[in-house]
Amino acid sequence: MKTRITELFGIEYPIICGGMLWLATPELCAAISNAGGLGNITACNYNSGEEFRAAIHKARELTSKPIGINITLLPSMRFTEEIYDDFFKVCAEEKVTAIEVSGKPAVKYLDMCHKAGVKVMHKVGAVRHALNIERWGYDAVIAAGIEEGGHPLNDDVATMVLLPRIAESVKIPVISTGGIVDGRSLAAALSLGAEGVLMATRFIATKECQVHPRIWEELIKREEHETTLICKSVGLQGRALKNDLTLQILDMEAKGAKIEELIPLLAGQRSLDAWQTGDVENAPLMVGQSIGLVKEVTTCAELIQTMVDDARAILERNLARFN
Ligand SMILES: Cc1cc2nc3c(=O)[nH]c(=O)nc-3n(C[C@H](O)[C@H](O)[C@H](O)COP(=O)(O)O)c2cc1C
Repeated sequence: MKTRITELFGIEYPIICGGMLWLATPELCAAISNAGGLGNITACNYNSGEEFRAAIHKARELTSKPIGINITLLPSMRFTEEIYDDFFKVCAEEKVTAIEVSGKPAVKYLDMCHKAGVKVMHKVGAVRHALNIERWGYDAVIAAGIEEGGHPLNDDVATMVLLPRIAESVKIPVISTGGIVDGRSLAAALSLGAEGVLMATRFIATKECQVHPRIWEELIKREEHETTLICKSVGLQGRALKNDLTLQILDMEAKGAKIEELIPLLAGQRSLDAWQTGDVENAPLMVGQSIGLVKEVTTCAELIQTMVDDARAILERNLARFN
């Protein structure tokens, strides 16, 4: 497959792993990159630039292919401005292939990254933000629909509308995220103007993702309506699995809880423990509506190859309908 995204990143297929706090590790990253996509190491898994650098070195022991990084610039109790500066500096020094930024703009780092040959993309949920990203000189923009796991933008626009709106509004390549899991969604995203797709929830259900097997069982069992948007009332909305904890958070929000009261329930350690122990009720497990389409656990190589083969077959079949 050839798109501006495969060319930009030097990858075989335009399939990218998004940032996943605790789950986007060097091992998962290497498995995805070795399968022809672009793997991801999430910088916020690490407490310092040097810990993060060690993770990049670990991934490079496992793959010689391009690797991607997520840096999330959201309000955080764990990270100072200096640590974020270090994350970007390490990316430039290590000459990683690409950085996926989410949250605050990373304009002050762009020049350093570009001088090091590092491509930078930003995840947005609105046309107005995509236009800024293009104007500021980013290399690509990621259109994130409200279906996505993690922190969708408060505009709440779904992929089906957001993606073509952004694709018709900017000239830089657009990557689609939110609800992408298989060849059908890859074909749809390409048809709607994307030159690549970014997925996270589906990559949890791969053998190389280091979660407790109970997590996989739960993802396969749960349906598309079983996620919820938490923390909208405090301006930090996130999409997570409906469970005891997220229902408690919604209840507290309905009663007017302040962010300070919610923070203990959102602590990163809770989700780290849950991914590892398989306790699916007591942490905000950030997954997308795409859980409804997660049917099995595969290797990353099986997933990516099947997606590409299926997308090709679907696009050919649809083309044949016009003849
Ligand atoms: C478990 C999990 C953790 C995530 N953590 C982050 C994160 O730390 N930073 C970020 O920018 N996005 C994060 N996301 C969002 C993803 O990068 C991606 O935008 C989104 O999940 C795509 O939608 P999908 O889940 O339908 O594939 C996370 C998603 C999941 C599923």
